[in-house]
Amino acid sequence: MIKIDDTNIVEKINYKKYAKKVEKINQIIETKSGPGNDYLGWLNNPTNTKKTELEEIKKHADYVRKNFDILLVCGIGGSYLGARASIEAINGLHKNKKPEIIFIGQSFSSDYLNEVIEYVKNKKFAINVISKSGTTTETSISFRIFKNLLEKKVGKEEAKKAIFATTDKEKGSLLKLANQEGYVKFVLPSDIGGRFSVFSPVGLFPIACAGIDIEIFIEGARKAQKELTSSNIEQNAAYKYAVLRDFFLKRKYANELFVTYEPRLVSLGEWFKQLFGESEGKEHSGLFPCSATFSTDLHSLGQFIQEGTPVLFETILNVKHPNHEISIPKTDDDLDELNYLAGKNLSFVSEQAFKGTLEAHSTTAKVPNIVLEIEKLDEEHLGYLFYFFMKTCAMSAYLLKVNPFNQPGVEVYKKNMFHLLGKKGY
Ligand code: PA5
Repeated sequence: MIKIDDTNIVEKINYKKYAKKVEKINQIIETKSGPGNDYLGWLNNPTNTKKTELEEIKKHADYVRKNFDILLVCGIGGSYLGARASIEAINGLHKNKKPEIIFIGQSFSSDYLNEVIEYVKNKKFAINVISKSGTTTETSISFRIFKNLLEKKVGKEEAKKAIFATTDKEKGSLLKLANQEGYVKFVLPSDIGGRFSVFSPVGLFPIACAGIDIEIFIEGARKAQKELTSSNIEQNAAYKYAVLRDFFLKRKYANELFVTYEPRLVSLGEWFKQLFGESEGKEHSGLFPCSATFSTDLHSLGQFIQEGTPVLFETILNVKHPNHEISIPKTDDDLDELNYLAGKNLSFVSEQAFKGTLEAHSTTAKVPNIVLEIEKLDEEHLGYLFYFFMKTCAMSAYLLKVNPFNQPGVEVYKKNMFHLLGKKGY
């Protein structure tokens, strides 16, 4: 379902040189024998997800859809980015759908939270609080504030029916709280880390609440799980992409710019950055993942890409067919001089922008461009895509000899912050 085009990468790559390494790492992944091996639950997550589990998620999602105007999804990092990326990719940015999904718990900004409080206080809202550890400060503070607001608004008993908690099966303060209050609980399996959790209830419940078909979404992931198993680079697009990423890093292209031509994929870029940034940025190694939306950012970053310091390569996710066509109208006076495009679809214009940019960046500027192509943007392709990136990520990180599934560096800011906040033990 994904085609990978490596014809615009400036230099020729000898995949054969990588064959043995990739074969060995593939075995390490399959036999779960590498660093972080207790976090490989995502590998079989799509096929391990039972119909009954999906039915249970859909049952609660239907309840939310019928009874509430807004669902507040409270989480940070892997506990919200997959859901956000999916909901925006499928529903778009301005869909007038009930319930509206609003994300909280991903910052300490009082202005942002105040804005959300003002927006929801006179509306019917539910909360899905998501935290694997159950102790993440951004999430916990936001949840406390909105739980209080809800309890004041509808009373403690009604509030309990409007709060859904997604957390670990056995530990953490969110689990304790959820048990005590009797909230509906969803479990994030202990062997799946946050950024690999979009196919668990962490992603599936909010995605289902947004009216998206999670069965088709999981089906796409299952396809990827089945197709992306070969250790032969030519037969495994995820591994081919991982090898290309490694190749460019070794050639001092330290940044990977993930590019789409769809505003509804901006949050997919955010998810991409977390997946690769947290998984690979260790031991003074790894690509710095960044993202851009073209043609929007051609009018800002485009100049740098074309003529600035040669520190990056681009990975373009090209969606071949839009879900909707818009034709450019003809006018009698042609004052804006656009009649030469009259009757043409916007997708045609976008395609020429894509082709022209590919040529400008790869041929003229000598910036390597990898093109990942999918036919269209729907639940199935999106499910496939998430799994594809996760599989790429495992291979990429092991090529760098780092553990893809931990994030020790993130603890440093937390320790400092806790010390400054006067938290006990810091
Ligand atoms: O990928 C990860 O593990 C992290 O980004 C976590 O998802 C994030 O820190 C939130 O953690 P938690 O779900 O424990 O609140």
